[in-house]
Amino acid sequence: MAKRTLVTSALPYANGPIHIGHMVEYTQTDIYVRFLRSSGEDVIYLCADDTHGTPIELNAAKQGVKPEEFVARFHEEHQADFRDFDISFDAYGSTNSPENRHYAELIYGRLKQAGDIERRDIEQTYCEKDKRFLPDRFVLGTCPNCKSPGQYGDSCEVCGKTYDPTELLEPRCSLCGTPPVRKASTHLFFKLSNHADFLKGLLGKPEFINTGVAAQLQQWFEKGLSDWDISRDGPYFGFPIPGETDKYFYVWLDAPIGYIAATELWAKKTGKARDALAYWSADSDAHIIHVIGKDIVYFHALFWPAVLKVAGFKIPDRLIVHGHLTVNGEKMSKRRGTLVPARAYLEKLDPTYLRYFYAANLGPSPEDIDLSLKDFRLRVNGELVNNIGNLANRSLSMLASTFERRLAPGGEGAGRKLVEEALARVPEVRAAYERLEFRNVIKAVTDIASAANAFMQTQAPWARVKTDPEAARADLSDVAEVAYLVSALLQPVVPRLSEKLFAQLNAPPLTFQALGAARYPLLDRSRPIGTPAPLIARMEEAQVNSIVVSPPQVEEKKPEKAAPAAAAPKPAEKAASVPAPEAGEVEYADFARVVLKVGKVLSAERVPKADKLLRLSVDVGEGSPRTIAAGIAEAYAPEQVVGRNVVVVANLKPRAIRGIESRGMLLAAGPGGKELSLVDPGPLPPGSEVK
Ligand code: 2FM
Ligand code: ZN
Repeated sequence: MAKRTLVTSALPYANGPIHIGHMVEYTQTDIYVRFLRSSGEDVIYLCADDTHGTPIELNAAKQGVKPEEFVARFHEEHQADFRDFDISFDAYGSTNSPENRHYAELIYGRLKQAGDIERRDIEQTYCEKDKRFLPDRFVLGTCPNCKSPGQYGDSCEVCGKTYDPTELLEPRCSLCGTPPVRKASTHLFFKLSNHADFLKGLLGKPEFINTGVAAQLQQWFEKGLSDWDISRDGPYFGFPIPGETDKYFYVWLDAPIGYIAATELWAKKTGKARDALAYWSADSDAHIIHVIGKDIVYFHALFWPAVLKVAGFKIPDRLIVHGHLTVNGEKMSKRRGTLVPARAYLEKLDPTYLRYFYAANLGPSPEDIDLSLKDFRLRVNGELVNNIGNLANRSLSMLASTFERRLAPGGEGAGRKLVEEALARVPEVRAAYERLEFRNVIKAVTDIASAANAFMQTQAPWARVKTDPEAARADLSDVAEVAYLVSALLQPVVPRLSEKLFAQLNAPPLTFQALGAARYPLLDRSRPIGTPAPLIARMEEAQVNSIVVSPPQVEEKKPEKAAPAAAAPKPAEKAASVPAPEAGEVEYADFARVVLKVGKVLSAERVPKADKLLRLSVDVGEGSPRTIAAGIAEAYAPEQVVGRNVVVVANLKPRAIRGIESRGMLLAAGPGGKELSLVDPGPLPPGSEVK
């Protein structure tokens, strides 16, 4: 029987839209899966929504809907986004499904039976007002290390220190602002520490995981593996733990089990297997590959294999770990508008562009990849539109207009050599796909197209047609052969473009399997070609730039009126784990991150050629005063503000305004211009906190 392969991408949280950062992983996996299919392998590609946990439960409550209803909306939306990006899942499930509940309970039962579940009483942070235990990211306070206010309970985003929520100074509940208390509760722990030797052995296999990534995991063994808390107290959105009262499986326990549940869904849907065990039983000969981001390696390389082993399931064969996406060299950010939702991208640009660009930058190791908008446009236009698209269009258009779509019979001349040299590179392209070196695939294919374009220039069929039309037809037919081959080689990356090209050539899709025995000529020369048309449009600069749309920021235009909503955003990869605020509202957590202080204006002067600006020197109780550029010059003369107390947003990133480095912002009320009134905090000393 042919080898069976099961490939997964990580399950996205049903808590927000898919964005272009997620698409790196789905594109990478989809390219690999399409390559395996094209090579004739028996492969299935599975995914599902990750639906459980506190953030989802709270967001649903905020919208006044049941969590089931909340996650159902994303289930539809996510699938539509993936479909429109040509992601070819064989099944797309949900962790909130009967199949997942079945396997979660089965696996838990086996862990328990094996003696690998231990009950322990632990103390946790609890909000008496909300009547719930608070996950670390729902506790806010001042960092014990650098004293930055508004930090989460697990780590400080200013100094990077990680700590326990009990160590935070002045801790408070992010939902209601109340100081939390400590409360004891019984939790269930999976005895990960029993499996250190097994895991060390697994991580030592280079075929299982990239050796660099494995080396980074060594630190966990050095510290001694901690047992894993797999239970959460209610209220929680998740599966109740059998035999317990008001206890639920932690989201990360049943999330990867969602891979098994998706397999079962696929088996039922297609009838191609009796159940998921055809792939997941311990003695299965299937090959299981998980594609994941570097931020979730810990779960997939430690907990997941250990849980599967104890429960008597198959251990995955391979983890493919990728890096994160940056945009224009920076971390994606909502504030900068670079956390582009997949749908917003699709409304502006062809998904083929992004698939191509990601492939052109992807290799097998977990390096971050950068979507520089300029490189994106230049590479897509230069390589895909000009080099590859024009090659096909020039040759096919002339065959249609001058030669009634008829190809010449295969010849012996320079054109044949061109095609054979291109064919000689197939093994290299195949090997690059196998090793997930997609950037090398793109390099080889663009080389092939460049050689064919150079051939066109030398042979100049448009001139030759006047003296030797048959020779011109033969050259054009050989270039059409190269276009056919390019289309086959790029099919996993840009399936839509390849399909169009196959149709224009009036030729059947050429697979990697067929390419194994392919010889010149590849095309059936007796068949007329189809109707040529441009394959893909150029990307215009304005069009590319339009995908990045900064949400309106008060501070961008009227810095002195900025609302506390201008607080720094959370890193992209954490965005899914905290509840997303509704439009127009900010979370208490976000508000709490803004530091407001009383400042005293020491001096003020007008700024040349900036009618609205005053340059102020403001004492904020820090020893040396701050320079702040404030857009209040139409409402206040400099002498009217000197000596006044004002409210300053003190932890705003410094910004250059008309060449002045402005370190903060003043709060003012009113419509703007002349009608602006500085907020007066009263006669408090500079540096006093405004709460
Ligand atoms: O980090 C995340 O987005 C998780 N939802 C990934 C889960 S992958 C698998 F384990 F389910
Ligand atoms: Zn609370």
